[in-house]
Amino acid sequence: MIDFKQLAEKYQTPLYVYDFDSMRTQYTSLKSAFKGRKSILAYAVKANSNLSVVKHFAQLGAGADCVSIGEVRRAFLAGIPKYKIIFSGVGKRDDEIREALERDILYINIESEAELARVEMIAKELDVQARISIRVNPNIDPKTHPYISTGLHDNKFGVDLNTAKRLYIVANNSEHLDPVGIHSHIGSQLTDIKPIREASEIVADLVRSLSAVGIELKFFDIGGGLGVRYDNEETIDPYDYAQAILSTLSGLELTVIGEPGRYLSANAGYFLTKVLYEKKNGDKRFVVVDGAMNDLLRPSLYNAYHKIDALDKEGDETPADIVGPVCESGDFLAKNYLLPKMEHNDLLVIHSAGAYGFGMGSNYNTRGRSAEVAVENGQDRMIRRRETFEDIIALEKEFAE
Ligand code: LLP
Repeated sequence: MIDFKQLAEKYQTPLYVYDFDSMRTQYTSLKSAFKGRKSILAYAVKANSNLSVVKHFAQLGAGADCVSIGEVRRAFLAGIPKYKIIFSGVGKRDDEIREALERDILYINIESEAELARVEMIAKELDVQARISIRVNPNIDPKTHPYISTGLHDNKFGVDLNTAKRLYIVANNSEHLDPVGIHSHIGSQLTDIKPIREASEIVADLVRSLSAVGIELKFFDIGGGLGVRYDNEETIDPYDYAQAILSTLSGLELTVIGEPGRYLSANAGYFLTKVLYEKKNGDKRFVVVDGAMNDLLRPSLYNAYHKIDALDKEGDETPADIVGPVCESGDFLAKNYLLPKMEHNDLLVIHSAGAYGFGMGSNYNTRGRSAEVAVENGQDRMIRRRETFEDIIALEKEFAE
């Protein structure tokens, strides 16, 4: 059990706390679900990009799925071997493509015909052969929140099947391109296995039809998306997830690549915030806390539910909106959440904050970002210090003097 009270005292609030043991358990459960098949779990760095978190996964043997050259650099710094690093994303700048090629990562995920041409051009300039995979958009509804659904033609991601096939042929005929993989990622927080199996089937069929024309791929990248329990959702067992994918790959000698983010880190993370005041506007009850949308954006952006514990509090519970100090009506961590009467300095523990929590934070309202703490084998340690006012203005100050 993590002693949140003691951590809040030691490091102050608002504070992110990550259970590194739980991250390890999640990694191992998913990795072992694929046993019997060559696989790489390329951790989706965007989910929680703290260097110590990425390093933790690196030490477990993970690769990295990156969506900016910044994330690629983090992966290198964290010690992830270059042959396990993937660079994805719908809009990569030339300098990012160049650096990815110079760093000789596993492959670049191509998201459009124009991007393929760009990568070919840059590879030619550098006189290298760019290993690529193409992100296929299988036009499947993953049945998740529309903001995190990515596998429909309505979404900006990937290319349709016919385009993909054509691009593989182009790449295969190019001196500077080496098509090694195929990629699809239909969405995040998936709790229904059917669309996953369907997408995998569609992509596996494409692999077979490419093989028929002499294009042999090595990597089958199924993206991320495995959902977790925030409330009482039914989630997919990692073993069933792996089976659903592997069952579509019979006869294909491919290394499976997964890009899990949330599954590895969401439920290992907690956001700690302290109560400042209670207030009422008419009949409406508000609990004002020191954490805000700039720390944890998911409730404001997706209306996401996070379970919240009021530590050591008892008594009659009534609904309250838990709100932060930011000047936005959308600044809330929960709406109509049942809480006992709260007092100044009471501690709230917000669960499932280990993925897309800190990383989506900002300095809005000139609020310094929280500190981050790791707990491993009963020991806690700071993995990012709290931002100070000086940190926040450091890049502006000299221009205003
Ligand atoms: N691979 C690709 C290509 C992705 O776009 C993503 C997530 C992942 C892997 C990792 O997906 P995961 O296993 O974490 O579901 N901010 C949102 C989630 C955005 C996900 C973006 N892409 C949230 O807080 O729910």
